[in-house]
This record gives sequence, structure tokens and C-alpha cells, in this order.
Amino acid sequence: MQINGAVALVTGANRGIGRQFASQLLDRGARVYATARRPELVDLPGATVLALDITDPASVAAAAEAAPDVNLLINNAGVTTATDLVGGDLAEVRRELDTHFWGTLSVIRAFAAQLGDGAILNVLSALSWFAHPGSGAYSVAKAAEWSLTNSVRLELAAQRTLVTGLHMGAVDTDMMAGYDIPKLDPADVARQALDAIEADRIEVLADGTAVAVKASLAADPADFYFPARR
Ligand SMILES: NC(=O)c1ccc[n+]([C@@H]2O[C@H](COP(=O)([O-])OP(=O)(O)OC[C@H]3O[C@@H](n4cnc5c(N)ncnc54)[C@H](OP(=O)(O)O)[C@@H]3O)[C@@H](O)[C@H]2O)c1
Repeated sequence: MQINGAVALVTGANRGIGRQFASQLLDRGARVYATARRPELVDLPGATVLALDITDPASVAAAAEAAPDVNLLINNAGVTTATDLVGGDLAEVRRELDTHFWGTLSVIRAFAAQLGDGAILNVLSALSWFAHPGSGAYSVAKAAEWSLTNSVRLELAAQRTLVTGLHMGAVDTDMMAGYDIPKLDPADVARQALDAIEADRIEVLADGTAVAVKASLAADPADFYFPARR
């Protein structure tokens, strides 16, 4: 897919990785709908700013009506609530799934018909493929979004829409502000993903964490989760 001349829509474009996507898409010659729950927070000269809360069906329908020419959909919006599945607040578990799974799916359903031989990029995570203490709700939601990505790819193959999943470990955004660990530059993540779309690739592993976690799935899970017992 050629980004120069494409019409892109980015969810959660007001900050973090989403802002990088919108900015780099403009640099690569796309027209860009930069969407956010609070559109007044979007500061991207050259972008068309729209309100969009992906968990609100009326907001999704209004955005689809306001942007009828989109052929590149970047599903970036996400939350992390650090909620355990067994002992945590069930409302927060639901919020993770409402955002990453139901929200992403409702945006795809609203825009799919107009995408044609364009593309969808779903911003997933290495945590689609593993659990970490405290990541229960997030991992479930990202795993569901990964599975959604694979099914939507098959369902939209007849209309030749490219459906790409992006996986990575920690990225230096507000979402990871509380963690003092090595983090990817969000600009580098967006660049890798946009390069992949232009190369018609269906999966992007943006760092060594994503590569290692994916490789671990082929081994005994005890090696990954309980290495001290091996
Ligand atoms: N940071 C990481 O380490 C990392 C790693 C792997 C994957 N990811 C994924 O990367 C994506 C972007 O995350 P980020 O790191 O850029 O996080 P971030 O800086 O916290 O930004 C999250 C963005 O999503 C928006 N958002 C949340 N809920 C929304 C909703 N219901 N409707 C519309 N927008 C909504 C936020 O809007 P508000 O400003 O209104 O809250 C914000 O613009 C997410 O899908 C995340 O899961 C992040």
C-alpha cells in the first residue's frame, strides 16, 4: 500500500504512539483524520481533527459519517488498568476488553466497507502473547485483539484490505511512565509499522521482546513462566 496520497484515520492521536502515527502519516503525504476522545487536545497542523471515543457506538458512527473516504485505519487507542483477573475490579477488566476488543472491532465494522484495497493496522503488544504479574486484564484484551486481527484479515481478504498487527514491548509514552525499564521510542515504533504497511506485511515485531515472546510460544510454557523449576 502506498501511504503518499492515502487517507488515514488514527485513533488516540492526541498523544503517545498515536500522535507519532498521525504526524508521520502527514510527513509521508497522507491526508489524516487525527481523532481523540478530547479533540481539543490534538495539536497537529495539517490534520483534520475529529472526536472519537472508540467505546461509544454513537461516536464511532459519527466519525465514520464524517470521514467517508478513509482507506488506512490505524487502531491505536488503548488503556492499561493493571488489573488482576481473579482479585481485581471486574469493571476494569471489562474496560480493557471494551477498549481493545469491542472498541477496535466496532471501529473496524464502521469503516470496513470503505477501505477497499487499503489497510488496517492494529496496535497490539508483546503482551498479546504472554502474561505478566499485574497484566491480566491487558493481556486478555490484547490477545483478543490479536485474534480479532487474524479473523478480520481473512474476512476482508476478498476486498483486498491489508490487515497488519503490530507487537512490541515497552514504549516510552504516558502508558509506561511509571516503569523504569528500557523503552522504545514511539517515533521508531510508528516508523517501523508504516514501513511494514508500505511493504504489504501482515505482522510487525518492533523489538527483541516481541521476537523473543513470539518464539517462546513454540516451546514448553514452563520454560517461560517457571524457568527456576526447570
Ligand atoms: N506504551 C507501551 O509500552 C505499549 C506497548 C505495547 C503496546 N502499546 C499499545 O499502543 C497503543 C498506544 O498506547 P500509548 O503507549 O501511546 O499510550 P498512551 O500514551 O497512554 O495513549 C493512549 C491513547 O489512547 C487513547 N484512548 C484510550 N481510550 C480511548 C477510547 N476509548 N477512545 C479513543 N481513544 C482512547 C488515549 O486518549 P486520552 O488521552 O483521552 O486518554 C490516548 O490518546 C495502545 O493500544 C497500547 O495498548 C503500548
